[in-house]
Amino acid sequence: MTALALVKDTQYNQEAYTDSIETPFGSVPRHFDEFWTAKQRQMNSLHYSNSYRGCYKPELPEYFISRFTKEGDVIGDPFGGRGTTVLQAALMNRIGISNDVNPLSEILAYPKVNPVTVKEIEDRLKEIDLSKEVDLSKEEDMSMFYHKETYKEILNLREYLKTHRDDVDRFIEITAISRLHGHSNGFFSTYSFPQFSIPKSSQIKINRTRNLEPEYKEIKSRILKKAKTSLKSGGIEALRKIGKLHKFTTCDSRNLVDWESESVDMVVTSPPFLNQVDYVTDNWIENWFCGIPQSTVETGIVQTPDLHVWTDFISDTLSELHRVLKKNGLVAMEVGEVKYQGTILNLDEILVSLTCNKKYNLNQFRVKEIFVQSQQFTKLANCFRVKNNELGTNTHRIVLMEKL
Ligand SMILES: C[S@@+](CC[C@H](N)C(=O)[O-])C[C@H]1O[C@@H](n2cnc3c(N)ncnc32)[C@H](O)[C@@H]1O
Repeated sequence: MTALALVKDTQYNQEAYTDSIETPFGSVPRHFDEFWTAKQRQMNSLHYSNSYRGCYKPELPEYFISRFTKEGDVIGDPFGGRGTTVLQAALMNRIGISNDVNPLSEILAYPKVNPVTVKEIEDRLKEIDLSKEVDLSKEEDMSMFYHKETYKEILNLREYLKTHRDDVDRFIEITAISRLHGHSNGFFSTYSFPQFSIPKSSQIKINRTRNLEPEYKEIKSRILKKAKTSLKSGGIEALRKIGKLHKFTTCDSRNLVDWESESVDMVVTSPPFLNQVDYVTDNWIENWFCGIPQSTVETGIVQTPDLHVWTDFISDTLSELHRVLKKNGLVAMEVGEVKYQGTILNLDEILVSLTCNKKYNLNQFRVKEIFVQSQQFTKLANCFRVKNNELGTNTHRIVLMEKL
C-alpha cells in the first residue's frame, strides 16, 4: 500500500478543524466537524420504520445529496441495507438505485419509497386471516421468542405474504419485520433485543434470568400502530411518484449486473467494515421470516477479519462503481475506525491509499475531500455491544471521490 503522511488526526476532538493526508498525487484535506446533528429521529418518519445493523443516520446521505447533486439526479447505493440512501434520495426528488447482496434489503427498502396509506393498511389487515390452525411441530421452534398463539399469527402472515405482494402487503411486511423482536409491548416477542436478532440460546438465557414466559401478543394491532408511526411524516403521493422510478437489485457489489454503465450521478454508501458487524447472524429472524436461506446470505456477504481481503473487495467494488458512474460522478463512501491487530485503523486512510495504488484504482478516482463526523454513542448503543473505542466505530469517515 502507498505510504501516506498523516499530518494530524486527534480523535474525538469536538472542535472543527482540517488536517490533510499527503499522497503521491497531492494533499487531501480532511475536515473534522459536526456536519449533521447527533440528535435522534429528526428526519422523515419512514427512515425509522426498521432497525438495521450498521445503518447510518439519514442525515449523512442528506448532507451529501444536498451538497453535491441536483433534483432528478441518479443516486446509487451498492450496499443498500435498509435503504437509507435511496429513501433520502426520493425525499429530495432524486432517483435512487439500491443494491445489496442480501435480498432482505429490497424487502426493507422498496416499501419506503412506495408507501401506502394507513387506511389501506387497516383495510388489508382486516381481510387477512391469521387465525388458521398451524401444525407447530413442523415449524421452526421459536418458543423462546413467541407465545404459541402469537407464533401462529406470525406464521399465517408469513404464508400470506408468499403470494400477496402488492404495495400494501409489502408495507405490512416491513412493519411486521420491525416488530419481530424487541423489548417493549409493541413487539411480537417477549423481552428481546430490538437492534438485531439474538441466537435462540441467548434468548433462553434472558428468559431464565428475567423469569419470563412469552405472553400472547396480538400482531395486527401492533402492525397498525407501528405503521401509523412510520407514516406520520406524510408526503406519500410525492414519494410514490418518484419511488416508481427507483430500482432495486440483489447482486454482489463487485458485479452490479443490472446497473447500466455511466448511469449514476453520485454514490452514497457504506460497506461492511471488515467484520465489525455480523450481517448473517444478526438478521437471522428477519431472514427466516422472509424465507431467505441463511446459506444464501452466508455465501454472498463479505465480512472478513483480513485487511487484504477487505481492500481487494473494496477495490473491486470501486472499479465497478467507476463503470456505472457518469463522467465526473462522485462517490461518498462512509467507513469507520476499527481495531485491527491491536491498533486502531482509520479506514478512510486505507481508502485513500487504495486510490493511489497502482495495483488498485490508480487513474480511476481522485479523492477530493474527507469528512469526519464525530459522534458519541448513546447509552443504548453501548448496551447493545457497541462500545466506544473497542469493537465499534465512533466517528463517521466519509471519503469523497471523483471519477476520473
Ligand atoms: C454498513 S451496511 C449498509 C447499511 C446502509 N447504509 C443503511 O443505512 O441501511 C453494509 C451492507 O453491505 C451488505 N453487503 C455485504 N457484502 C456485500 C456484497 N458483497 N455485495 C453487496 N452488498 C454486501 C450487507 O448485507 C449490509 O447490508
